[in-house]
Amino acid sequence: MFENIQVAPADPILGLNDAYRNDPHPNKINLGVGVYKDELGATPILKSVKQAEERLVETEKTKSYLSIEGTEAYRKAVQELLFGADHDVITKQRAHTAQSPGGTGALRIAAEFIKKHMPGATVWVSNPTWANHQAIFQSVGLEVGSYAYYDAASKSLDFEAMLASLSQVPEGDVVLFHGCCHNPTGIDPTKEQWAQLAKLCSKQGFLPLFDFAYQGFGAGLEEDAAGLRVFLDQVQEMLIANSFSKNFGLYNERVGAITVICETSEHADAAFSQVKRCIRANYSNPPSHGAAVVTEVLTNPQLRSLWEMELQAMRTRIHEMRSLFVSTLRAKGVEQDFSFISQQNGMFSFSGLNPDQVAQLRSEFGIYIVGSGRISVAGMTKDNMEPLCEAIAKVLAN
Ligand code: LMR
Repeated sequence: MFENIQVAPADPILGLNDAYRNDPHPNKINLGVGVYKDELGATPILKSVKQAEERLVETEKTKSYLSIEGTEAYRKAVQELLFGADHDVITKQRAHTAQSPGGTGALRIAAEFIKKHMPGATVWVSNPTWANHQAIFQSVGLEVGSYAYYDAASKSLDFEAMLASLSQVPEGDVVLFHGCCHNPTGIDPTKEQWAQLAKLCSKQGFLPLFDFAYQGFGAGLEEDAAGLRVFLDQVQEMLIANSFSKNFGLYNERVGAITVICETSEHADAAFSQVKRCIRANYSNPPSHGAAVVTEVLTNPQLRSLWEMELQAMRTRIHEMRSLFVSTLRAKGVEQDFSFISQQNGMFSFSGLNPDQVAQLRSEFGIYIVGSGRISVAGMTKDNMEPLCEAIAKVLAN
């Protein structure tokens, strides 16, 4: 029965980890997957997370099932982080949140919900977007289209083209926005541009779906939620998929959430009951540990301030690596202007390197970056910067 199955292509991001692991190159560097590394090249557990785990070991009383949507405390903490504690959508009970296995799990639930309750809707994603977005929506049978976003010539957001594309999206379709730290370009709309997008959204009548995986990696926890909150002022309905993989370093615990916002609390109750149905038929109910850690950290003032300091340290280190990357490339004789990299947000730099150059970096130097030219700045260190920039200089000189 299985003899005619073809080998699937390697995943464009996670597949690089396997290739990297098997590469015998002595000085290999992995800048593929978006995983934060410290100055020693390690991905340690945050102190705030460790302390929360120690408390949980003491206080946890059962390993019985969670409810389909996860714990009340987690869901409340997530909403307060997304919207701010006293936001209207919380006080009016227009938002319901369910814990999910990572941001990807949240997107999958969103996809199933859209497929079932918005029949015929197309999901529009930015060009370019995270390499897994299309697969997630297509895997439930949704059509996926793309809207203009990035201008390769100026290495910036082509906002006019973005508005023009989104003006063509019909009522009842879905538009996916990256809440902050756009993956892969690192280029986000300004607050004014978010306001224009929200206005367009309410005029066109499409549903915004926010993928919010990097809160705190741009300018700060509050600042990074600005776009999302601008939308909340203008539109009545929204879906949000958020993740704690990056800002808590809880990659392998798979912690995220799916939030549905409706015009009234009655509509929200009904929509959420359907979200729960999707979850039940998918993975039944969420795993507990990661979300318990996040809840502990977000709700304990001392752990929370430790976490915010650790998050700020990660953000600052990435910014420093951006500047060092640009100056080291210059020092290695690269004439092309790479200064745009210091203006990008989040973990990634969209380098502009082409697929041949990416392939050469890998085969000759053991340097792994995503085929689109996306480099994980979060994996750069003072130690790997020299060989990295030297290799890029050589590849660019060809
Ligand atoms: C990335 O874009 O590198 C991360 O979001 C990890 C992943 O799952 O692709």
